[in-house]
Amino acid sequence: MGRPKLIVTAGPTREHIDPVRFISNPSTGKMGFAVARAAAKRGFETVLIAGPVSLSTPAGVRRVDVVSARQMLDAAVRELESGTPAVLVATAAVADWRPAVCAASKLKKRDMKPVIRLVRNPDILKHVRGLYPDRDDLKLVGFAAETDNVLAEAARKCREKGLEFIVANDVTEKGCGFAVDTNRVTFVYPDGECAALPKTTKLRVAGRIVDEILGF
Ligand code: PMT
Repeated sequence: MGRPKLIVTAGPTREHIDPVRFISNPSTGKMGFAVARAAAKRGFETVLIAGPVSLSTPAGVRRVDVVSARQMLDAAVRELESGTPAVLVATAAVADWRPAVCAASKLKKRDMKPVIRLVRNPDILKHVRGLYPDRDDLKLVGFAAETDNVLAEAARKCREKGLEFIVANDVTEKGCGFAVDTNRVTFVYPDGECAALPKTTKLRVAGRIVDEILGF
C-alpha cells in the first residue's frame, strides 16, 4: 500500500472511581512517543493518541489527549473513519477494567466501601479489527507487556487481536518496559515466528518498528 497514516496509542489510561481517584498503571508514554517521533521523521502523517503523560509532543506529530480506555477507543475510531490507508500501533497500556460506577463528586472516606465493582473495558485492537474486518488497507501492530511466558503470550495476543505483528517486552527485566528510556523487545508474528532485537534505546526500537511497517 502507499504511505499510510500512522496512528499511535501511548501511555496509560485512567479509569476514575471519583473525580480524584482512579485505577491506572506505570506507563509514561516514552515508548509510544518514540514510535510517533520515528514515524514523523520518516514522513508518515502521524497521529498520537496519548493517555495522561507529561511528555512533549514530537515535531510533526498531531496529538489527541485522552484519559480513559473508552476515550482512547473513540479517538482511534475517529482517526480511522477517513478510510485512508492506516496503521495503528498500539503501545498504550490500556486498563482492561474500569469501575462500574464513577461517582460525580469526591467520595467521603466514611461513605467508601472497601470493594470496587469492575466491568470490562473494550479491547481497542479487537474492536477496530471487528469494525473493519475486510479493510486490507488497515494494519494493526500491538505491544505485549509480559512477566511470564513472554513469547507464547505475545503470539496468542497477536493471533487473537488480528495483528500483523506484536512487540513483546519482558517488563521484569531491568532497563526494559515501563518508565525507562531503553527496551529489549522481540517481534512476534501470527505464525509464531520471532525476531529478537538487542537491548537499545526506545527511539531505536521505534525506528525498527517503523522500518518493519514500511515493508508491509
Ligand atoms: O509507556 P512506557 O513507560 O514507555 O512503557 C512502555 C510499555 C511497557 C507500556 C510498552 O512497551 C508496552 O508493552 N505496551 C503494551 C502494554 C500492555 O499493557 O499490553 P497488553 O498485553 O495488556 O495489551 C496487548 C495489546 O493490546 C497492546 O497493544 C495494548 O495497547 C492493546 N490493548 C490492551 C487492552 C485493551 N483494552 N485494548 C487494547 O487495545
